[in-house]
Amino acid sequence: MKLAQILFSQGFGTRRACEGLVWAGLVRHQGRVLDDPAEDLPTDGLVLEVEGKPWPYHAKALVLLHKPAGYECSQKPRHHPSVMTLLPAPLRSRGVQPIGRLDEDTTGLLLLTDDGALIHRLTSPKHHVPKVYEVACKHSVDDSMLARLLAGVVLDDDPAPVRAAACQASGTHALRLTLTEGKYHQVKRMVAAVGNRVEGLHRSRFGGLALPVDLPPGGWTWTDAATVLALPPEG
Ligand code: URA
Repeated sequence: MKLAQILFSQGFGTRRACEGLVWAGLVRHQGRVLDDPAEDLPTDGLVLEVEGKPWPYHAKALVLLHKPAGYECSQKPRHHPSVMTLLPAPLRSRGVQPIGRLDEDTTGLLLLTDDGALIHRLTSPKHHVPKVYEVACKHSVDDSMLARLLAGVVLDDDPAPVRAAACQASGTHALRLTLTEGKYHQVKRMVAAVGNRVEGLHRSRFGGLALPVDLPPGGWTWTDAATVLALPPEG
């Protein structure tokens, strides 16, 4: 693929802006300044350096963000900055969007992509992709709460009960809850339905992917669909 086309596909602006980056000597490959926007490069495994930063080529972007509290997943945030402001400009301009939403006060693993088919695959209730939430509760957790969450509770917008795929106490006032759907405020509403209250919510897993321990809040990293779609480890 031609260099200017590669840069354009990665979100580095208009074709003219991409040519401008090359002519300004701001694009390198393996230490060599690339000075011809029409140069043909194989995209397989390609890592460019643009304005001094490494940029691995991805036909479709899939990134994992450690969402901090105080950010909204909405494209048009109302009270807090958007999670999009935590990503570099090329990812924003290629139309990356969150796969499902986390509430403003929820922290943890958020995936973002520009791959519409993958968004459908990972959010469709048909596909049952498990998401794991660490829940801090106001009141102590007891066995009957766990049993009710596993058996299914009825939320106010749908008579069909929703159930946790897995649920265990992770402390006297803490739960680890696995859900395969993504209804609006689902964890908070399910926990309220069994007489408790969510005081802190953190997503630790999405499908086969765990939030990396060394990724600080606000940090992001590239990931791949195969890892997300892999079966999560037992337990
Ligand atoms: N369930 C909630 O209630 N909030 C979230 O952010 C995610 C799941």
